[in-house]
Amino acid sequence: MNRTQLFTSADLTREEVDFLLEEAESLRGKNTEDLKGKVVATLFLEPSTRTRLSFETAAHRLGASVITIADPKTSSVSKGETLADTIRVVEKYADIIVMRHPTPGSAEEAVKYTKKPFLNAGDGPNQHPTQSLLDTYTIKREAGGIDGKTIAFVGDLKYGRTVHSLTYILCLYKPAKVIYISPPELKVPEKYTQMLKDKGIEFEETADLDSKMPEIDVLYMTRIQQERFESEAEYLKMKGSYVMTSATVKLGKKSLRILHPLPRVDEITPDVDDMEQSACFRQVENGVYMRMALLKNLSKAYYK
Ligand code: NCD
Repeated sequence: MNRTQLFTSADLTREEVDFLLEEAESLRGKNTEDLKGKVVATLFLEPSTRTRLSFETAAHRLGASVITIADPKTSSVSKGETLADTIRVVEKYADIIVMRHPTPGSAEEAVKYTKKPFLNAGDGPNQHPTQSLLDTYTIKREAGGIDGKTIAFVGDLKYGRTVHSLTYILCLYKPAKVIYISPPELKVPEKYTQMLKDKGIEFEETADLDSKMPEIDVLYMTRIQQERFESEAEYLKMKGSYVMTSATVKLGKKSLRILHPLPRVDEITPDVDDMEQSACFRQVENGVYMRMALLKNLSKAYYK
């Protein structure tokens, strides 16, 4: 793989995704020295638990050291430092940069200021490419892959960046059908359905979850993205739109697999957790191996 930076899922190729899936599988459960002597910077200018900790776990398991900003309030960003200057400074310390930022397009902006390996860990409601790769890895392990599968997204499809990034990857394969299930106010942006149209992939948009359950192979549940709403009142109108309970799961196939990027609020009840269909916490573990694959190979391409 020749890639050194990843700021969107839009320019990933099928060859790259297939390669990364194999790499993640081969790094499963391993500790290596692929990044021995390298410093990975994790800049998280927006809250995170999984993404930051799984990147840091991945870096440690590859033998790297980690420096971090876990809270923008503790960095010079809170003094008004520009993104350009933050990146110009951090690239003098670190060999690889991982960044999460609240502004859409900030990752694409950041790579103007560094040639070093760079990974977008989420830019506002826009993209979350490393999550979509770990989701793809989970779909492969849990359901055998995307081809021929009916894949549904449920919840906040407007602001949910993981939905946007995964849709790009679905377009590299041949799913039987993609179903977007959301309240009308939180529909997936038209750009994504247009992309499916252009690729000749069948899709459907609906607000009704229960009637769709029997046809779904992989169901991707999402959180209503409270922090993206203009007001608390608007969020409260949407809160609790969809709740997956064990009774809902039983409407589906036995082979159904449920994914969720987490954190969940109230959209999957705890009684679902012990069901075989729930893959959410296996998905968390897969994230470490996919991020190991990314850190290793972006670094390898740059530091040859
Ligand atoms: C997601 C995110 O940050 O976009 N979480 C994650 O990275 N695991 C989903 C979310 O916050 O709802």
